Amino acid sequence: MRVLRVDPASPEPAIIAEAAAILRAGGLVAFPTETVYGLGARALDARAIARVYEAKGRPKHHPLIAHVADEAGAKKLAAVWNDRASRLARAFWPGPLTLVVPRADGVPAALAGGADSIAVRAPSNAIAHALIAALGEAIAAPSANRYQEVSPTTAAHVARSLGDVVDLILDGGPCERGIESTVVDVRSGAVVLRPGPLDLGALRAVEPAVVAGGAIARAADARPSPGMDARHYAPRARLVVASTWAEAQQSACRMAAGGVRVGLVLRSELVPDLTRELAKNGRVLVRNLTRDAAGYAREFYGALHDFDDQGVDAIIVEDVPKDDAWWAVADRIRRGAAG
Ligand code: TXA
Ligand code: MG
Repeated sequence: MRVLRVDPASPEPAIIAEAAAILRAGGLVAFPTETVYGLGARALDARAIARVYEAKGRPKHHPLIAHVADEAGAKKLAAVWNDRASRLARAFWPGPLTLVVPRADGVPAALAGGADSIAVRAPSNAIAHALIAALGEAIAAPSANRYQEVSPTTAAHVARSLGDVVDLILDGGPCERGIESTVVDVRSGAVVLRPGPLDLGALRAVEPAVVAGGAIARAADARPSPGMDARHYAPRARLVVASTWAEAQQSACRMAAGGVRVGLVLRSELVPDLTRELAKNGRVLVRNLTRDAAGYAREFYGALHDFDDQGVDAIIVEDVPKDDAWWAVADRIRRGAAG
């Protein structure tokens, strides 16, 4: 496994050129984006795409996102690019928004898991952007983790999950957002298939037609979106949601007394004394995450990865607020706890 440090503010051209050459030859390069690390391959190379599915152990019908430089790059992959796509792309690209549009004829069906649609996104991370520019075409990149694992937010997470199957990992430090992009299907209306860093309020300020997915998304499209699978984004340890701090504490104490090693994910308003008290017997590991939704999202997957590394049996997460800003985090907590 090769890992190269890259300056996220000003990516070294020689390293980017080397990574692009690997992609051009059909290889796999993991790279940072502002959301999570991606497992990159040439989007138009069906054999490279097959390697991605194999590396991840991902079912062949789960479509990949094509990463492009800008709206012009996205249009090349789309059979139709409507006003909703344009408005959203112009407002949020480069950034953590993925648009699902009709797939153009020349784009390999394998990239889209056989679907006649294609997901496109222009990432804002400078390393991702430089890599797309150096390759001069779209890069397919699912999150750089094995199927159903928690997405990686550092190069170390990628190395642990896929180190033996990628040709190169570009280490650009921790991801700024820490949670996967918001996916919006703009083919008919504008339906959020996966909540992400851009919440409903932000999307609707630009495109009032945006609605939350779920039942609506499933009714409109028989093909389930893999990001909507129940058990996705799950740590190895059993994840349990506690509705209050008191419940989280009680469950942790009860489990620890029964010999279970527990990881506890709390929000930082909590009393430090109690946190220390819980940590004392060594069977409860505590992480206090940032109180606001964006900060919490940045830290959440890292906490799950750390707890898995430390071999906890169970992870208890104190539930988060129910409002729009917390929608994506609440979604990932629910999925992590499912199954
Ligand atoms: O933030 C992200 O989106 C990251 C970084 C690397 O860009 N990528 C990512 O890719 O999360 P992946 O493959 O782990 O998740 C892709 C999601 C799926 O959950 C699926 O819901 C949606 O994108 N998707 C992709 N193509 C689609 C399509 N044609 N129709 C519906 N949903 C699609
Ligand atoms: Mg993924």
